[in-house]
Amino acid sequence: MKSDRLLEEIKYKIDIVEFLSDYVQLKKSGQNYKGLCPFHSEKTPSFMVSQAKQIFHCFGCGVGGDVISFLMKHENLSFSEAIRYAAKKAGIKITDFKFDKDDFSKNRENIIQINNEAMKFFIKNLSSSEAAKVYLKNRDINEESIDKFCVGYATNERDALLKYMKKIGYADSLIKDAGLVVSAERGYRDIFRGRIIFPIFNLQNDVIAFGGRVMDNSMPKYLNSPETGVFKKGETLFAINLSKEGIRKKAYAIIVEGYLDAIMCHQYGFNNTVAPLGTALTLRHLHRLRLLTNKIVLVFDSDEAGISAARRSLSILCESDFRARVLLLPEGEDPDSFLRKNGSQPFKKMLSHTISMIEFLLDKSKEDRIDNAREALGMIATMKDLIIADEMLRELADRSRINESVLRSELKKIRGKAGLYNVERMKQVETALNREEDLLLSAIIAFPEKVNDVLSKLTIEELKDETIRSIFKKIKIHSGHFSMNSFLGTADEKERALITKLSLEPGFDLELVDKNIDDCLQTLAQKKFGERKKLADTKEPDDAVLHNLLLKEKRKLIKGPQP
Ligand code: GTP
Ligand code: MN
Repeated sequence: MKSDRLLEEIKYKIDIVEFLSDYVQLKKSGQNYKGLCPFHSEKTPSFMVSQAKQIFHCFGCGVGGDVISFLMKHENLSFSEAIRYAAKKAGIKITDFKFDKDDFSKNRENIIQINNEAMKFFIKNLSSSEAAKVYLKNRDINEESIDKFCVGYATNERDALLKYMKKIGYADSLIKDAGLVVSAERGYRDIFRGRIIFPIFNLQNDVIAFGGRVMDNSMPKYLNSPETGVFKKGETLFAINLSKEGIRKKAYAIIVEGYLDAIMCHQYGFNNTVAPLGTALTLRHLHRLRLLTNKIVLVFDSDEAGISAARRSLSILCESDFRARVLLLPEGEDPDSFLRKNGSQPFKKMLSHTISMIEFLLDKSKEDRIDNAREALGMIATMKDLIIADEMLRELADRSRINESVLRSELKKIRGKAGLYNVERMKQVETALNREEDLLLSAIIAFPEKVNDVLSKLTIEELKDETIRSIFKKIKIHSGHFSMNSFLGTADEKERALITKLSLEPGFDLELVDKNIDDCLQTLAQKKFGERKKLADTKEPDDAVLHNLLLKEKRKLIKGPQP
């Protein structure tokens, strides 16, 4: 099968640990790697990745699979779409592979492609516009930053981009879907005209939208692409693609307010800086960032607007269990102006003298002491990480000089109201009911060469667990050939989860695999017998022939299977 070979090649070229590191902070743990699951919110890592087996499994929420299924789930892609994506990453040509793409992913891919063309068009414009180059120069954006951020320019014509796109073969409807044009009186016109263009990338370095700034004082100062199939304003962070490495290395992210602030921070070496797109920080932003870090430094102007914006951000940072500190710039400065005026050293110094959330809430806000303490307490109450919450509570007691036990009982009241004690994740209860079936499958996963032996001694229809039954059925259809790599591709989500789980936690001593298989088959047979006996006892208590037969069977069972 063509797709099988392609899959194999992809998996050979992509290392799952390296690949998933774009999404999860992974730490070596025994033979495997461990991190916080990107599919559910958790405090202690239960997301395991096996380099040897090239699979992942979360022991918290139960999802599991390989690189392809990870992409499908995380990026919301179809199977073939995920393969294409992974192949591209692995540098594999896939021209001869047939895809049956659904409309959704087709559109998504097309939008990214057309955005890419638009970006090239804008970059080319910049190289031939003196005015735009002068503007960037006046703002001290150097050549390196222009390249790195792929800065471009949209000329002040009505439909220059539209014409260009049509010329190179794109349909009006797609150009519209990508958010590059709007309907006007005489057909479509370009959205961005007479603006410096900042392409906006996602974590995977796809161009998903644009931001444009005027070069004078006209309004609106900034314009963003409308939301599209690939762009959601409230979850996108500018410069996340360029900050990924820096955030991981420095183990925290700097959040600033504007495009230019982010660009200047990078230019001055603060390569872990991102910015929302003119909106307040949202939970969805933080959800994205969480993949890289849980520590944040918020940078704000110390004027009133800056302080109230910082307060709003802190409240949602608490809610998502981030550990945040605040850097307040001198009044009237933003990171861009501050860096250009003072250079990187003073900024660095300020970064090492940031203030804690509690200190910020108590000292920098205009309300009275008690109100501030209440606000802080309210934020602490929303935290699910009780250890960090406790640390903050102590600090609050210290700084507010309010008795700690009073704060504690107040906190309890607030939490009680919000029902937060019940939010604690319910642990999945493991049922030992079909343990033997699990173990049999586990044996096959670890020793695929045993599959025929097991299949010959097993009546698949009699298996109790629905998922295990369907897995065995599929294996049988493939005439007893089992390879985890190709199986994960055809498995559904439940099957995948079970296979990756058993693969990481076989549940038996691998050296005793034959004994394990025998034991399991034996127990299954005994269980089955037990059920028949029970049925006979209740339904046909007087059938002597039947009971005699059962007795014979029982003797055989106890002796074990005959050679
Ligand atoms: P400069 O004036 O170029 O230094 O920009 P700035 O980054 O300092 O912008 P400012 O502090 O005025 O605004 C911060 C961010 O808010 C900007 O980067 C934009 O993302 C957003 N923003 C500002 N003005 C507008 C606007 O008129 N429209 C929209 N959509 N966003 C804006
Ligand atoms: Mn500015």
